[in-house]
Amino acid sequence: MARNLQLNEKGELQHLLTIEGLPREIIVRILDTAASFVGVTEREVKKVPLLRGKSVFNLFFEASTRTRTTFEIAAKRLSADVINLNISTSSQSKGETLLDTIDNLAAMHADMFVVRHAASGAAHLIARHVAPHHHVINAGDGRHAHPTQGLLDAYTIRHYKQDFTRLSVAVVGDILHSRVARSLIHALTTLGTPDVRAIGPQTLLPTGVESLGVRVFHDMREGLRDVDVIVMLRLQNERMKGPLLPSAQEFFKCYGLTAEKLAVAKPDAIVMHPGPMNRGVEIDSMVADGRQAVILPQVTFGIAVRMAVMSLLGGGAA
Ligand code: CP
Repeated sequence: MARNLQLNEKGELQHLLTIEGLPREIIVRILDTAASFVGVTEREVKKVPLLRGKSVFNLFFEASTRTRTTFEIAAKRLSADVINLNISTSSQSKGETLLDTIDNLAAMHADMFVVRHAASGAAHLIARHVAPHHHVINAGDGRHAHPTQGLLDAYTIRHYKQDFTRLSVAVVGDILHSRVARSLIHALTTLGTPDVRAIGPQTLLPTGVESLGVRVFHDMREGLRDVDVIVMLRLQNERMKGPLLPSAQEFFKCYGLTAEKLAVAKPDAIVMHPGPMNRGVEIDSMVADGRQAVILPQVTFGIAVRMAVMSLLGGGAA
């Protein structure tokens, strides 16, 4: 269902809603296209005309620093017109439905909707509703999916480690509430990563997480042994219903990434975090700011990856 909705009749990307079920060749094309845009983002004149005359509407119903801003930068670098709807002052506060809002923006000749929403499935709902010439990009829906984050994480891993088929990757922490973890795991398994590990307490792992193709570890030192990549996740207190942990201090003791725990991984292992980080909760500042951290390059690569996704929608001009 999701895959059909995402691809047009020619098998091209119509919407980007989830990485689950996305063909490997489309993921690779996005990563390769992003690589070509990294050069653009490093030039003095950082613009290309691929989306000239197109209107991109950023609809962020949930807070964001990195995703909203890098989508705006990416769209502007593709020469699109960008409209950031201020949700708090929009007519949503007067009871307008999500789909009525979309219809009104479509009447303003929107071409693309970039949507973040607390409800899982919101971007799918919009994609099912809009006319065929509109494109929808999921910028994070509930705990379901955050496909451009999964893609920029995959891009970062490929940049530093090249070959997915030789890697051990550990995803650590609050996997239960993490759309980022789900999207990255789908990307890694589709790209042939042989060893993906999910590390966390039982209460923060989804039931049946093994079915995603990961190995589960509750002991962090055991799980980090000899890995090439460590992806730390934020403890998402705002999505927790009831206490799932004794305390943040106890969580840090067992699952916080410290220099001592990092030493168990390969000496050249990279440390990633999608942000926002909770220093001293899931990651120690010494590690977050240390030589193995690639957390800020992840953000920078996000611009090129989002340029790639937007430029490839509907068959693309790239
Ligand atoms: N990684 C991520 O989605 O960050 P923001 O919530 O700041 O967009």
